[in-house]
Amino acid sequence: MPVVPNAVERLAMLRLNRGPGPLLDLLGAGSFHAVAPAIDLGVFEALDTPRTAADLADDFDVDTDTLGSLLAFLVATGYLERDGDRYANTAMTTRWLTDAHDTNMAPWLTAWQEVVLPFWEREFERVLRDGEPSVDIYTWAAEDSERAATLHAGFRAAATLAREDALATVPVPSGATRLLDVGGGHGLYAVAFAGEYPGLSAVVLDHPAAEPSFRDTLESAPEGADRVTFRAGDYLEDDLDEGDGGYDVALLFNVVHAHDAATNRALLERVYDALRPGGIVAVLDQFTGDGRTPIPRTAVRFVDLTYRLTLGAHTYPAEEVTGWLEDAGFSDVRVKRRFSGVTFSLGRRP
Ligand SMILES: C[S@@+](CC[C@H](N)C(=O)[O-])C[C@H]1O[C@@H](n2cnc3c(N)ncnc32)[C@H](O)[C@@H]1O
Repeated sequence: MPVVPNAVERLAMLRLNRGPGPLLDLLGAGSFHAVAPAIDLGVFEALDTPRTAADLADDFDVDTDTLGSLLAFLVATGYLERDGDRYANTAMTTRWLTDAHDTNMAPWLTAWQEVVLPFWEREFERVLRDGEPSVDIYTWAAEDSERAATLHAGFRAAATLAREDALATVPVPSGATRLLDVGGGHGLYAVAFAGEYPGLSAVVLDHPAAEPSFRDTLESAPEGADRVTFRAGDYLEDDLDEGDGGYDVALLFNVVHAHDAATNRALLERVYDALRPGGIVAVLDQFTGDGRTPIPRTAVRFVDLTYRLTLGAHTYPAEEVTGWLEDAGFSDVRVKRRFSGVTFSLGRRP
């Protein structure tokens, strides 16, 4: 957790400008760089019961004093608590960084530490100069199977946060039998819809590099998994509907931020053609201007910069996306902003 300043520190550093506010960022960065190796080592999974540093160091075969410093820093930043010489997870850590809950964000933090931020560092100067990276992050990740697995496992972890909102928001037509998850990667959303709607089969269309992560999703044998298949391909090039009579639902989740407006318009026109009459398109993304409170407002700017650096792309206002949907021929076009901060643009093929 980033250190949370107390009232006096907030006043001095953030209001009166008497102390160096940027040092808070340095502490946050330090905290992130301590948490990621702790995840990698398995510290949080091990500390579901209290343990001493020596006991853990023995298990991990690492230096006891260094591990002790790491654990003490994690206490200071709110990830662990200490009772005598034993350390244990705080409730926040158990809830968000261990398998105790299915919203374990640890793989998402690992993906940033091991893939996304190294890519930032690698490409920042070039993107500032040329406006785009030398290669997009998906292609770069696919060059190394471990890197690809880390990135796609991160996407899956992040998706656990929006899965319930997706189920509650996307109006699946009654009697729907086919769903297409465009760029659906790990397949978590497709499996969730198949689990919720017993008559629904789903196809996840993504690059081959995403398939191992899709297989991992199926391995946990969630309800509906046997009705979800992976189709390796390129959604910009390949036919979306392989002559199978069209889809009732098409999901484009975290897809449009990767492309320029003309590409997105063309893609949505092809999605329209691949849907049956009455079929639903659902676009989930981070939209420019969304976020009325500091955390989501900052998060949108953070991912917008990330999309520049990793994809040579950017976020769009939700209204621009609904305009594309209308121009593609969709009706009932609307934006649904969920309380959680997740936003959808929806449309229906007449
Ligand atoms: C940010 S991830 C989103 C994954 C999932 N839809 C979600 O929201 O969690 C974008 C996905 O699109 C895939 N992708 C990007 N460009 C693609 C293309 N041209 N054809 C197929 N898949 C593509 C990536 O491999 C990746 O799995």
